[in-house]
This record gives sequence, structure tokens and C-alpha cells, in this order.
Amino acid sequence: MMDWTDRHCRYFHRLITRHARLYTEMVTTGALLHGDVARHLDFHAEEHPVALQLGGSEPADLAHGARLAERWGYDEVNLNCGCPSERVQRGAFGACLMNEAPLVARCVAAMREATRLPVTVKHRIGLGRSESYGFVRDFVGTVAEAGCSVFIVHARNAWLEGLSPKENREVPPLRYEVVRQLKQDFPALTLVVNGGVGDATQIAGHLATLDGVMVGRAAYHDPWSMAGWDARFFGDPAAQVLAPDRDAVEAAMVGHMLRQQAAGVPWSHVARHMLGLWNGTPGARRWRQVWSDHRLKGRDPREVGRLAREARLQGRAVAAAAEDSPTG
Ligand SMILES: Cc1cc2nc3c(=O)[nH]c(=O)nc-3n(C[C@H](O)[C@H](O)[C@H](O)COP(=O)(O)O)c2cc1C
Repeated sequence: MMDWTDRHCRYFHRLITRHARLYTEMVTTGALLHGDVARHLDFHAEEHPVALQLGGSEPADLAHGARLAERWGYDEVNLNCGCPSERVQRGAFGACLMNEAPLVARCVAAMREATRLPVTVKHRIGLGRSESYGFVRDFVGTVAEAGCSVFIVHARNAWLEGLSPKENREVPPLRYEVVRQLKQDFPALTLVVNGGVGDATQIAGHLATLDGVMVGRAAYHDPWSMAGWDARFFGDPAAQVLAPDRDAVEAAMVGHMLRQQAAGVPWSHVARHMLGLWNGTPGARRWRQVWSDHRLKGRDPREVGRLAREARLQGRAVAAAAEDSPTG
């Protein structure tokens, strides 16, 4: 997710779930051809398994991106056919590629020829107001013929006119039944559903009929919701014995901040992704306020961590006192 799932965010999420596959922000082929490639592609070894998402529509440029993905050590390369932003539409990629299935097939074929990594596609279930199932079925069928076997389906249409990208993640209705129908029609393909999924019960519900679930905003805003995934969805026996612990995750993030600081990255660039860590527990708001306090930017992250912990424990004590009081 643009501006969200950068390498620091992924480092953080990996401390909470060892097995969930993490995705980069979309990186455009233009950025890889003309920009600072290392800045866009470098990641920490701890992040595996991690997929690079590309945005583009030129088969040769995407092949170049796929080659770079392999050289950098990514585990998967994903093509974005779901982003509705105007900037992306001007570049004629993202969701508008759903109108050009044969071109997407050529892109996938070129990427597959360039790399041994799995090449996957993320897309919507339709464009505009049309609810034609045939449209998305033919899109998937055509792209699958080019060798793509994993489709991550954001289960709403993209309306390319009149809605902002944010509205395009909220207004077009979710239609999970379309993804289930795709699975029925293409049983050999791996179909991963995305959109509006958050808690573990919902995830389990989708996994009864589909191959995977991609969780976006819920995981970002409430990262601890991922803490039970390794045990529940990946059957990791270690996770069943040793559940992750928020204090340990926070301490590991402070260590990460110190290392990043030595490389010139301010700790606030790292901390901003973990502000939801204590969500849902007493004192979380006070803790968050400390980690997002701009006046502390010049301080050592270890000290900020201590202040945040004190604030959280104080908040917890206040909440407990309120519960104990007769009027509480
Ligand atoms: C801030 C933000 C940035 C996003 N950037 C991307 C992106 O770069 N590539 C992409 O495929 N989807 C992107 N998305 C869409 C999400 O991946 C996802 O499809 C959408 O939010 C629906 O899933 P959710 O309800 O689990 O969040 C972004 C979403 C948000 C909120």
C-alpha cells in the first residue's frame, strides 16, 4: 500500500507474523527505469516472504522490473491491475488494464520469461457500474493462459470516474461471491480474496472456499490482529507455544530505529507504522501520543520508548482506577 507498506512497516509486521506474505508499495516501471532503484527495492532480509508489486503496462519494462525483483531477492512479483488513481490512469496502467486483458497477458508472458519468480496479478472484479461476471471471468481466463496462476482479487469494481482512490476502496460494493465463482470456474488457479476483511473469523470463513486472503487496512491500523495468524492459519507449532508479545515487538522496533538512525533515517519514519500496536488496550492512546510527538524527534528512541511505556502504564492505571470507582 502506497506510503504505508514501506520496508519499515514490513519489518514491523514481520515481527508479528512470521508466515504471512508481505507486499511492497506499488513501484512503477518508470521509477525503476529512471529513479533510484536501490531506494525503491532494498529491503531487510527479515522481511521474507515478500513480494514486489509493479505498476506499468509495457511488457519490456515490466520484464525489466521482474528481472530486478529476482536480482534483489524478492519471492514474488505482482502486477497491479487494480489501482484507480488518476495519475495511474494517465500512465494507462493499474485498474484500467482490466479493459486490456490481451495486453496484460503479454505483460505477464514477458515477466515470466524474464524471471523464475512467481508472477501474480492483483485486480478488481469489474470497471464502472457494470456487474458483468463475464468481464472478469474473461480477464482472468486470458491472463491465466499467459501463465499467471495466482490472482489476488479486490472484490469490488473500480469506478474510474468520479471517485477518489479512497472512495474507490469504500463505495463500490463488495461482492465476494464473484471471487467464489471465479474459483469454481478456474479450480486450478490460486484465488486470493481482498477487500474489507479484517478479523480472524472472517478470514477463516473465506478460506473455506478460497485459497488465500489479503488483508490491507485492517492489518495496518490494528497490526496486533495478525498476532494469531501463524498459529491459526499457518499451523506453526512454534507460534502455538510462543505467542508474540507486544513489549518484545516494541523493543525490537526500538532496536530497528537505532540501526536506521545510524543509516540516517529518523526514528519517526519507522515509528509512524507501529502507532496501532497497543490499540484496544488501556493506555494505548497515551502511548501513541508519545511516539507521534514531534517535539521528541531529536531524542534517542530508547528514551522515547521509556516515555511511551510510562505514559501507557499511567493510562492503564487511570483506566483501572476508573473501573474500580463506584461511579466508574
Ligand atoms: C493507503 C493505501 C495505499 C494503497 N496502495 C496500494 C498499492 O500500492 N497497490 C495495491 O495493489 N493496492 C493498494 N491499496 C489497496 C489495498 O491493497 C487493498 O486492495 C484495499 O485497501 C482493499 O483491501 P482492505 O479492505 O483489506 O484494505 C492501497 C490502499 C490504501 C489504504
